[in-house]
Amino acid sequence: MIHKPVMPREVLEILAPKSGEFFVDGTLGGGGHAELILEAIGDEGKLLVVDEDPKAVKEFEERNKDSRAKIFAVQDNFTNIPAILESRGLGKADGLFLDLGLSSDEIEYSGRGFTFQKNEPLFMTLSDRYTPVRTLLKTLREDELAKIIRDYSDEKYAGAIAKEIKKTLKQKNIDTTFDLRESILRAIPGNYERGRIDPATRSFQALRIYANHEFENIESVFKNLEKILKSGARLAIISFHSGEDRLVKNLMRATAQIGLLKLINKKIIETTEEEARANPRSRSAKLRAAIYTGTNPNPNIKLTNSHYLEINSCLPAGRRVISDYSRDNNRTQ
Ligand SMILES: C[S@@+](CC[C@H](N)C(=O)[O-])C[C@H]1O[C@@H](n2cnc3c(N)ncnc32)[C@H](O)[C@@H]1O
Repeated sequence: MIHKPVMPREVLEILAPKSGEFFVDGTLGGGGHAELILEAIGDEGKLLVVDEDPKAVKEFEERNKDSRAKIFAVQDNFTNIPAILESRGLGKADGLFLDLGLSSDEIEYSGRGFTFQKNEPLFMTLSDRYTPVRTLLKTLREDELAKIIRDYSDEKYAGAIAKEIKKTLKQKNIDTTFDLRESILRAIPGNYERGRIDPATRSFQALRIYANHEFENIESVFKNLEKILKSGARLAIISFHSGEDRLVKNLMRATAQIGLLKLINKKIIETTEEEARANPRSRSAKLRAAIYTGTNPNPNIKLTNSHYLEINSCLPAGRRVISDYSRDNNRTQ
């Protein structure tokens, strides 16, 4: 594993795992954070780790097979944590940690098309449960494609990129990362981004978020907090780009407004210069945390789909969470 855990000291301080407690890490990855939690909860502790990536789960199990703590390592989506807790009779947790996005290992070695620096088949999905991007490019309409690229990455040439992708598809398939990057490059001016980032970066990010239902998955966790956490449990989430962080911030605030969460850090926690130098990937990381109160002062107020649509309406202009319900009803609202 080449993945280095981000802000390990800060995460541990916030989650404050104690001997004998039960923790859930919904994004196991290289297991760096999970192993720190494991150490803190000790032999009497209980740990559930979840990841879509079977390799992450297998390697963690192997590395920790001699641990005396009770470890449950499950290959699944973190949206299924409530079902996993129930089916295994694990009860509710003292803390939940999510470190969103992909691990460096997945980007480098999965072969699923997460990086345009390698020519790989254009899946871009963490699991075969989701439709690969090469299929989505064919099935989405040009206006839908443009909207996804614009909304999920603020790409100003989204319209031109979507148009070029559809034009290319009339002549040949877009099956690989290089095919897609070439199509994007044809759509944008030559001096775009002036070498700051690869011109394909934003479109790749947007398509990955859409294909993996990344924003809906985050929403789902907030809707199900009561099934996952005990009263007084800690919740910490690391996000890696502005749209993702905005969503986590809005969901935390909305849940705090109805009294179910108490925000720990009103001000966002970011990496130190020292860590950013040692681990460049950590530079864009943002940590937000809260305590789950478990006491909704007004039980008549519940987080519902319409509540989440309200959260959408407080996102900045042009940015929408395209949720399951809106995928069906008004995907291109
Ligand atoms: C940034 S890495 C986590 C790194 C980890 N904290 C560490 O210390 O190595 C994110 C991980 O979450 C997984 N992941 C992303 N979305 C997921 C989801 N919805 N359900 C389960 N796993 C997910 C990815 O496969 C990846 O392994």
